[in-house]
Amino acid sequence: MIDELLNEIEDIKKNFLKEVKSIQSHMDLKYVRDKYLGRKKGIVAALLKRLKEISNENKPIAGKHINQLKLFVEKTFNEINEIYNSDKINSDFDYTLPEIEFSVGGFHLISHIKQRIENIFISMGYHIAYGPEMETEYNNFEALNIPDYHPARDEQDTFFIKDEKDLILRTHTSPVQIRYMKSHKPPIKIISPGKVFRKDEPDSTHSPVFHQIEGLVVDKGINFSHLKGTLELFIKSFFGRDVSLRFRPSYFPFTEPSAEVDMSCFLCKGEDESCKICKGTGWLEILGSGMVHPVVLENCGIDSEEFSGFAFGMGIERIAMIKYGVTDLRLLYDNDLRLLKQFG
Ligand code: PHE
Repeated sequence: MIDELLNEIEDIKKNFLKEVKSIQSHMDLKYVRDKYLGRKKGIVAALLKRLKEISNENKPIAGKHINQLKLFVEKTFNEINEIYNSDKINSDFDYTLPEIEFSVGGFHLISHIKQRIENIFISMGYHIAYGPEMETEYNNFEALNIPDYHPARDEQDTFFIKDEKDLILRTHTSPVQIRYMKSHKPPIKIISPGKVFRKDEPDSTHSPVFHQIEGLVVDKGINFSHLKGTLELFIKSFFGRDVSLRFRPSYFPFTEPSAEVDMSCFLCKGEDESCKICKGTGWLEILGSGMVHPVVLENCGIDSEEFSGFAFGMGIERIAMIKYGVTDLRLLYDNDLRLLKQFG
């Protein structure tokens, strides 16, 4: 008898919660309240009346459960009442109106890739450093050992800030190396993401504004193997374990020796002559790198006899194009939802 009653109370509670959830108006509220708490015909009142059928021994238990149910129902109604009476809900609100759709945003592909790269380097103990987009000619070129005759210094290639002598829009993230080395003592281990600017005609692979990520490590005894190992770990974490790297001798005024780094084509693995990504060469150019030129270290007040370092720089758009098969870089800036939604 008592068990039956306790089970019934449990069921009543469940039904009550279901009904509460469907309350949408004052009328619903009154109906449900009367149904449960009505003095004569309410469910709780009916339960109390049944107490006399229960044995004396079990009466206290039954009474306790009925009372708990009553308190629970009352408390729930008080809470609902509070919501109805607060300013938050207008009781005249038309609940049949269609719901308001909230769209949830997502990361842009460029931000997404930037974050993935950052996370890989953070896991290797790197700090993130930032520098200004408007930079001195000195930090952008001279301090990096970029000679006067270098084509990047040409007015045709660089944006100069009018009336501000010596200020330009940085053409790469490498000036952050200079800023960081001037303000921090080795050991240095940073990456620096950001926008860079070049006076390029926009086409499928060029844009006057794009993004780079720079890396710089300076400490005692840093050598080329550290550079190789670091880049190998990074590229494999990003593109997958089965890609391999190729270091091609190259030239940058601020690194010596310098190397252009290629990655084996992850799509065709060098086996498809008409591969869209590697154009049949089997290799994809990923980044520029090298050992920091001693002159650059000295320009920043770091003793190049005691310390050495490596640096690398890569274009985020290029990585996006390779990784996701984006065929035209301009697609990344058009903000066409059809593209954004694929990656958001
Ligand atoms: N700053 C170079 C560029 O924009 C890339 C680079 C960075 C190369 C660091 C070597 C070391 O092309």
